[in-house]
Amino acid sequence: MRICFATNNQYKINEIKTMLPSSVEVVSLEDIGCREELREDQKTLEGNSHQKAEYVFRKYGVPCFADDTGLEVFALDGEPGVYSARYAGNHRDNMANIQLLWDRLKDKDNRQAQFRTVITLIRENGRVRQFEGTVKGSIISELRGDKGFGYDPVFIPKGYEQTFAEMSADQKNAISHRGVAIHKLVEFLSKQNEE
Ligand code: IMP
Repeated sequence: MRICFATNNQYKINEIKTMLPSSVEVVSLEDIGCREELREDQKTLEGNSHQKAEYVFRKYGVPCFADDTGLEVFALDGEPGVYSARYAGNHRDNMANIQLLWDRLKDKDNRQAQFRTVITLIRENGRVRQFEGTVKGSIISELRGDKGFGYDPVFIPKGYEQTFAEMSADQKNAISHRGVAIHKLVEFLSKQNEE
C-alpha cells in the first residue's frame, strides 16, 4: 500500500514511518510532485485536514491523509484553536503567539487547555475517515524547556510536571495529541493492509 501524507514536514513523515509496517509506504507531497502550499482556510481542524486531503486526492489521484492541530484553551472558549499557527499574525512567530496567549490569560484563573489533532484519511475508493487525538494539560506563565516547537514550553500535560519542551521526542510522542491520532490511523491502516 502506498499512501501520501499531505505534508512536507519531514519530522512528521519520519515519525509515522517508524510506526507503520514496512508494507505500507508513506510518501510526502514532494514525492508525488506537489510543490504547492496547501490551503487551509476552514474554520475547524476537521475542515482544514479534510480540505488538504481532498485537494491531494482529487488532483493527484492517490490515497492520502492530512493532519491539523490546535491548542484549545478553555477560559478562552477554545482559542487559539484552528488559528494556533498564526495567532499573533501571519508571520507564524512562536514567541509572539505565546506572548499573546499570556496576555489573553492575564486575568483568568483557569489555565486548562488541550492540544487536539484531527487526521483525515481518504482511501483509494474515496471513502473518508477521521481520527482524533487529544492531550489535556495546563498553560504556565514562564517558558520551560528548549525541545519541541510551538506552544511546547508553556504546556504541561495532565499528570506530569515537565512541559512538552522538557520531554524527549519519544516521551512526548507517547502521550501527545498527534501521537494518539497517528496511533488510531496506524491501527486502521495496518488492519486494511492485512485484508
Ligand atoms: P499543525 O497543524 O501541525 O501545523 O499545527 C498548527 C500549530 O499548532 C503549530 O504551528 C503550532 O503553533 C501548534 N502546534 C501543533 N502541534 C504542536 C505541538 O505538538 N506542540 C506545540 N504546539 C503545537
